[in-house]
Amino acid sequence: MVARKELECVIAETDGEGITWVTLNRPEKRNAMSPQLHYDMEEVMMEVEVDPDTKVIVLTGAGNSWSAGMDLRDYFRATDGNPGEQFRSFTANRHWSWDILSNSRKPTIAMVNGYCFGGAFIPLCACDIVVTDQDAIYGLSEINWGILPGGIVSKVIVDVMSHRDALFYAMTGRTFDGAKAVEMKLANIAVPGDKLRDETIALARELMEKNPTVLAYTKQAVRAVEGMDTNLAYEYLRAKSQALQFVDQAGTREHGMTEFLDKKTYRPGFSAVKVTKD
Ligand code: COA
Repeated sequence: MVARKELECVIAETDGEGITWVTLNRPEKRNAMSPQLHYDMEEVMMEVEVDPDTKVIVLTGAGNSWSAGMDLRDYFRATDGNPGEQFRSFTANRHWSWDILSNSRKPTIAMVNGYCFGGAFIPLCACDIVVTDQDAIYGLSEINWGILPGGIVSKVIVDVMSHRDALFYAMTGRTFDGAKAVEMKLANIAVPGDKLRDETIALARELMEKNPTVLAYTKQAVRAVEGMDTNLAYEYLRAKSQALQFVDQAGTREHGMTEFLDKKTYRPGFSAVKVTKD
């Protein structure tokens, strides 16, 4: 593991395979997001985004928590009456947890190792894929603090969760576990805590087997068509497909077709595993 620059609230390390582990690191505060954590994350996320050694980004938390949401003391109360600091921390929060993360060209995995509350739903939903401890505790607890799911929480939950679930959990503040998060399609995979890291690494390796340009274009395309009507999506995807053929220097499309159609050495329809021909 190669550790990056030392920061107050975040640890970022890249392993030899290309997985960069970004760890929210305020375990004594359950990784509640303070202004300083947002400033650190803004720096880290921009750096790993342009780092050629980073192929997959995993976002996780130190200790028994993924993140307890916005820091009620440092993000809210301490900045009351200080619009300058509010603007700085709000903008840094928005920049890393939505703008950079949801637009990342690299695969992003949220590895939810414990508590996930309130504002933590923003980076959770910004990530491409969520692997969770089946016993992790999730909650839209804002209602209990006399605030509403702000930032962009209300928006991301209606985009990812069902209308009924979003309203139910935002209005009651009830918690649910990782297994339920998968049932609700808020997360993809739930495993026991002791399998969480291995499951995440296996997924990251699977993603690293794909061509990174094709992967980047695929995630951009899936995200972009969400807000389009069918005609526009047809047009957009045709143009995007042509652009991909142009930018994919490795010629993955031609290569795959040659192996499947001519050489008969590859059957990607079943798995990414090569067929060995004797
Ligand atoms: N903001 C500020 N501080 C927080 C925090 C938050 N969102 N979440 C936890 N902390 C702090 C606690 O104040 C406590 O600090 P202290 O040691 O100085 O007293 C420390 O983190 C540990 O919290 P504690 O409640 O003792 O830990 P726990 O393991 O028993 O419970 C939680 C963990 C996450 C269930 C609980 O801390 C909690 O409910 N936090 C609030 C989560 C929330 O509603 N977030 C949304 C905010 S909009």
